[in-house]
Order: sequence, then C-alpha cells, then structure tokens
Amino acid sequence: MRCRRCKDKAVIYLERHNAAFCENCFLHYYYNQVDKNIKREKMFKKGEKILVVVSGGKDSMALWDVLNKNGYDVTAMYINLGIGDYSNRSQEIVENYAKERKLPLIIKNIKEEYGLEIGKISKKLKRSPCSICGTIKRYLFNKVALDGGFTAVATGHNLDDEAATLLGNTLSWQEGYLARQAPVLQSTHPKLVKKVKPLFTLTERENLSYIIFNGIKFIHDECPHAEGASSILYKEVLNKLEEESPGTKQRFLINFLEKGRKHFQDVREELDLKECKICGQVTTTEICSFCRLVEISKEL
Ligand code: FES
Ligand code: ZN
Repeated sequence: MRCRRCKDKAVIYLERHNAAFCENCFLHYYYNQVDKNIKREKMFKKGEKILVVVSGGKDSMALWDVLNKNGYDVTAMYINLGIGDYSNRSQEIVENYAKERKLPLIIKNIKEEYGLEIGKISKKLKRSPCSICGTIKRYLFNKVALDGGFTAVATGHNLDDEAATLLGNTLSWQEGYLARQAPVLQSTHPKLVKKVKPLFTLTERENLSYIIFNGIKFIHDECPHAEGASSILYKEVLNKLEEESPGTKQRFLINFLEKGRKHFQDVREELDLKECKICGQVTTTEICSFCRLVEISKEL
C-alpha cells in the first residue's frame, strides 16, 4: 500500500478515511487534525496559557507532545491518585518526559497534600473508586488552572472515549449529560475555567501510532479500577460496529454534535452556583464535594 500524500510505502491505513500514510505523512495528518480542531472549535489561541492534564497514558502524552510541537504555551499537570504501583510508574514516565524536554510540570499528590485515599473513601461511602476519583480530578483541574491563571484545561479524551460516553448517555437518555457533551465546555462562572478536548476526532489507535512513531514512553496498563467499567463494554460494542462499517464511531459522535445536541439545550438547568464556604471554589451546595471528601478522610 502506498501513502496517500507522498506515494512512499505506507505504514498505517485509516479505514474510516480510506487513506494510508507513511510515518511522516501520518504525523503531518495528526498535527493538522489537532490544529484544525483547536481552531474550528475556538478552543484557545497561540500565546494563551493552557493547562494540559496528563496521566502518563498514550492519549494525554500524545496531547502534551503535539501541543508543544504545534507551538502552544502549555504546562502539564499530573495528579498522583495513590493507586499503588500504577500511580508511581505513571508519575515517573511523566516526570522523565518533562525533564528530558525541559517542560513545565505541576505534580499534585492527593494523599500528601489533602490526606485523600480513594480506596478508603470508596469503602466508607460505598461509592465506586472511579466516581470519587472523578470528583477529585475535576476539582483539581479547575483549581490549579484558576490559581495559575490558565485560559483552558485540555484533556486527552479521544474519539473512542467520546463515542462510548455518548452511547452510554444515549442508552439511558441522560438529557443533562447529552446537553453538556461537547469538545469545548465554556466557563459559566468567573471561577470556572473552560475545558477542551483537542483530540476528540482522533482514535485511540491514532494516538498510539503517534506515540510510537515519536518514540514517546507511556504507561501501557489501564487504571486497575477501570476493569469491568461499562465504558469498556461500550467501546467493544462500538469497535464491532466499526469493523463492519468503518466510520460509524465518527459519524455517531460528529452527527450528534452537529445535529442532535441542540435538541437538548433547553434541558440545561440553570444551576445555582455558589462559592464553597471552606475553599471558595464553585459548587451548588454550601460545602463543595471535594472539601466534603477531605472532611470525611479526617475521620478515617
Ligand atoms: Fe481514576 Fe482510575 S484513574 S479511578
Ligand atoms: Zn471546597
């Protein structure tokens, strides 16, 4: 097979685009896709300070790398969630990447800084570790971005993640979530920072290829808590559909964003946003859910 762009020998075939690329032309395609997404969706501009959250996995490492190479002003943030060996190994990968390239990196450690242990809280509250982890991450993304004067928080969500989330939300008609599923989540309060997903049109496989072609190290394992999560099942189902009919995932997501999402706009309830009595971050209750977790942890 020959590369669509330069006619050299191809190393990757992208079925949904019916296009094959050599290594160089694939990277060219990848850089362009990310830049197009950022511009078309008005995510941010050159010169604005962007906080990119990295986990050490292929998607966020690819995002960090591509934003740097495309000349954006990015600082990375890694959150050590205290998930045993998985957290320590991923922190090491992220730190080495930043050190080798002399890039700014903020490290947060939830146990050392806030006394939070996801396993213990999950047992006490009988809530899944992932939902607690989600609360903690969302809080820190916003807090660190706000304190550091960043314009936007960028995450490595890819096409597979977004399509799986959309499938899950559609199966149970979660109107509120459907209204909010978008590549850009605008700020709705002066203390809430905009969230963006520059990789939302790129697949897991494309991010992995980007990482491999660039020789970037990443953590291969998934978080151990992800095992059995419904998002994994949704991804498998979508992969089956994709095999039969390439382009299904992209059509599902992009057509929803273009044609479906607007029908859910009026479900967006106006939330009564306040500032947390303890930390001052935005919340809908007197004390935010993060500060409540910190309080609970003191009793454990
Ligand atoms: Fe949050 Fe696994 S990364 S529970
Ligand atoms: Zn708070």
